Amino acid sequence: MTSAASLSLAPEVETPVSSAVRRGILSRPKRLPPWLFYDEAGSRLFERITELPEYYLTRTERAILTTHAASMIAQAGDGARLRISELGAGSAAKTCLLLNAAIERQGAVRYEPIDVSASALRAAARRIECEVAGVTVAPRVMDYTNGLGFEPRREGERRLVIYIGSSIGNFEPEEAVRLLRRVRAAMDPGDAILLGADLVKDRDVLLDAYDDAAGVTAAFNRNLLVRVNRELSADFNPLAFAHRALWNSAQSRIEMHLESRRAQNVHLAALDLTVHFCAGESIHTENSYKYAAGQLQSVLERAGFEPDATWNDEQHWFAVTLGRA
Ligand code: TRP
Repeated sequence: MTSAASLSLAPEVETPVSSAVRRGILSRPKRLPPWLFYDEAGSRLFERITELPEYYLTRTERAILTTHAASMIAQAGDGARLRISELGAGSAAKTCLLLNAAIERQGAVRYEPIDVSASALRAAARRIECEVAGVTVAPRVMDYTNGLGFEPRREGERRLVIYIGSSIGNFEPEEAVRLLRRVRAAMDPGDAILLGADLVKDRDVLLDAYDDAAGVTAAFNRNLLVRVNRELSADFNPLAFAHRALWNSAQSRIEMHLESRRAQNVHLAALDLTVHFCAGESIHTENSYKYAAGQLQSVLERAGFEPDATWNDEQHWFAVTLGRA
């Protein structure tokens, strides 16, 4: 029999957000998962980050694609007709460069963007269809970090999987290898993958990219707390946490933290949890691994690909590498 008392003690319904936040905030050191960044406000802030003068990543990769899209497509196709799949809904501008190069070469192209977010996919499909004539968009809602399946390809075609934007850098190197192995398992021999990654460079250039003068990155990082407040009835004071970006040279990664400016308690009502922060204690929110020259090739090899060509910008700040399945 269910009494009123046991009902009021019933645990809150767990959601992906509540269980991830509970697990992260109870860990030592405390952490929160980076996928929480991308609510509506966070996605808009990230778009602004990609346009910041300090955030060289997007601009540099776009310049590499602008110069080399035709060679990348020719190299990937190796004489065969290509169809293109993309991990992540992709930013229209960069993806369009590759789609246009494919259309230039073969007249039309089938494009399959894969993402967990149906709304991000719809937006991407609309942008692509507006900007590129000759592309058929076949979006797929799927969490590619868990499992993966591509649309079957036709006899004589090759598939090109694009994974650009340096998202690979947000995985631990071992996790990156595992992810790429799963991608490889869903591909056929002769298919190709185009992988973009940010490279190790001057420490100050790296730090500025993750801590811009206008404070957009700080707002992006703190938006995590705003989201937790809204979705889990928490009382974080976002300004009581400082945005910290630091370079961990031993692990070759930029780390993002939210550092408590003072000793404080935070109540997360939906989790029935009060959390104490010491002054200077931080919540680790994201890692962004920076690859050394040649390391991207070795990650590809370990995942079962044969590294083919690599394209860089003049300063060698960023790399786009083609791997053959
Ligand atoms: N994936 C992006 C990157 O590693 C995300 C990002 C940019 C980010 N700036 C940030 C994540 C600041 C956390 C904090 O470059």
